[in-house]
Amino acid sequence: MTTAVYPGSFDPIHSGHLDVIGRAREIFDRVVVGVLENEHKDYLFSVEERAELVRQSLAQGTDIEVRHFSGLAVGFAVAAGASVIVRGLRAVSDLDSEFQMALMNRRLEPQVHTVFLTTGFSNVYLSSSLLKDVCAHGGSIEGLVSPAVERALQLKLAPAGTVAGRAG
Ligand code: PNS
Repeated sequence: MTTAVYPGSFDPIHSGHLDVIGRAREIFDRVVVGVLENEHKDYLFSVEERAELVRQSLAQGTDIEVRHFSGLAVGFAVAAGASVIVRGLRAVSDLDSEFQMALMNRRLEPQVHTVFLTTGFSNVYLSSSLLKDVCAHGGSIEGLVSPAVERALQLKLAPAGTVAGRAG
């Protein structure tokens, strides 16, 4: 039985992440999503909110586990009983930093392997930052995130006066 962890910020989770989670589950027996809490980073959503949004975005009845962690991703992998860290690649531009991370993680825990999965073509341009920017300016993010995330983003970010905005 092979367990894989999929660590990330997920601030918030979007369709590209969900695509990677689905592919990972096709390959590995057990998949644990790890939502990182980094006290030095400013997130839009708290770690509890981000983890809850991951749960709400997953298909009902799924066996994907969702946890949050702080510290090293390899430490999280070992604690979860995983021998694999999954990371999604959108484009070649992701590769540089991902390659660095994978090699450092291998040095830290040689028995934990990094596996890169490419995201689907329709998600190549997606990033959490871009989605927050679009939402903050009143643009539509429908279909790019789950309905739960769309609602949560609109509540936090959509400008008043837009259809999605609170006081509009
Ligand atoms: O979704 P992100 O922000 O691209 O995910 C980055 C993440 C969480 C995978 C990376 O920052 C990470 O692993 N952080 C945990 C701390 C750590 O292990 N640092 C050393 C990496 S070599």
